[in-house]
Amino acid sequence: MTILLTGGAGYIGSHVLLCCLEAGHAVVVLDDFSNGSPEALTRVQGLADGQVTTWHGDIRDAALLERIFARHPIEAVLHFAGLKAVGESVANPLAYYDVNVGGSVTLARAMAAAGVFRLVFSSTAAVYGDQAQMPLTETSALGQPSSPYGCSKLMVEQVLADLCAADPRWSVGVLRYFNPAGAHPSGRIGEDPRGVPANLIPYAMQVAVGRRPELAVFGNDYPTPDGTGMRDYIHVMDLALGHLAAMEHLADHTGHHIWNLGTGRGHSVLEVIRGMERVINRPLPWKLAPRRPGDTAQCWADPARAATDLGWRATRGLDEMLADHWRWQAQNPEGYQS
Ligand code: NAD
Ligand code: UD1
Repeated sequence: MTILLTGGAGYIGSHVLLCCLEAGHAVVVLDDFSNGSPEALTRVQGLADGQVTTWHGDIRDAALLERIFARHPIEAVLHFAGLKAVGESVANPLAYYDVNVGGSVTLARAMAAAGVFRLVFSSTAAVYGDQAQMPLTETSALGQPSSPYGCSKLMVEQVLADLCAADPRWSVGVLRYFNPAGAHPSGRIGEDPRGVPANLIPYAMQVAVGRRPELAVFGNDYPTPDGTGMRDYIHVMDLALGHLAAMEHLADHTGHHIWNLGTGRGHSVLEVIRGMERVINRPLPWKLAPRRPGDTAQCWADPARAATDLGWRATRGLDEMLADHWRWQAQNPEGYQS
């Protein structure tokens, strides 16, 4: 079938694109390349056969969306396009509400006008806010996200729930990602942050490849076994396959569905550093730094609902994630500019 993939030139979208092609789907990509690269699309097409049509444009452009739906027999939409830098969202909240919330509303409107009602949305575990009890289930109380970015995702979840309540034709899957990392094992596609990476694993990778002198560990006085923050890192290939499973499930399940996509296991910052050192086979320079404002001590998923409903579970662990991420980084030290 034909799938519209918004944000398909980005980190997660490019891996999902590859999985869609491998599953035999035709894919229409809409991306404005503000944080993605045309080179990612070229490389995916070097890894898999199949039909990709690329539209260079903005998710908020209603007339463009109308043209795309008129031109292609789209049956489902996987919606990744959006802004995701937490710090930037604090400095420029309007851009985040405009692109993430406004863009999703524009997309849903265009879908309904075209008679397409199957949508998978990229949400985040940030919607749970700061919680004492782990693991997090989809029925855990929602918290206050610590940034406009997290709030924008929570708002879109609400918009989509209201839409499903108002119109029974909709089938919506909200995927709450935990911490995506890793890359396709070929090393051809991967995460290519612009500027200084905000997240632990991309930052550690740039230290390992010599682009940055050392990693700062943000606090070692959290109530965790070694004092550093714990997160549920999930391999981007596992995450990608979760999207296909959700999209298939939605073919015969209407309504609004939420699934955690995580492994169910937390790893501390120091465990990640030790894992990195195993992969690169040398010490990784790091220093202790103060806590980062907005960080929580721990966050990991109960992924049971996705296993029951979708038959999906993550199969790749931290070492494989770091080895695959490192292969991409070592082969492409400057990302797609290499
Ligand atoms: P990314 O920035 O690599 O990909 C997003 C893509 O959307 C980019 O290619 C960018 O050019 C495109 N885009 C941005 N604004 C656009 C617009 N107005 N119109 C058209 N295209 C636009 O990010 P990613 O890591 O691949 O994340 C994909 C989605 O998953 C995002 O919605 C993000 O918020 C969400 N998410 C990501 C993470 C993570 O850690 N990477 C965690 C939770 C949720
Ligand atoms: C961060 C965002 C979250 C977003 C997610 C996307 C914040 C506060 N949270 O989550 O909203 O959905 O990215 O993946 O920005 N760490 C270091 N040194 C670093 C970077 C991180 O010690 O240079 C630590 C952090 O304190 C944390 C762990 O590593 O304990 C993971 O951090 P990160 O990769 O940024 O992810 P999150 O904080 O979970």
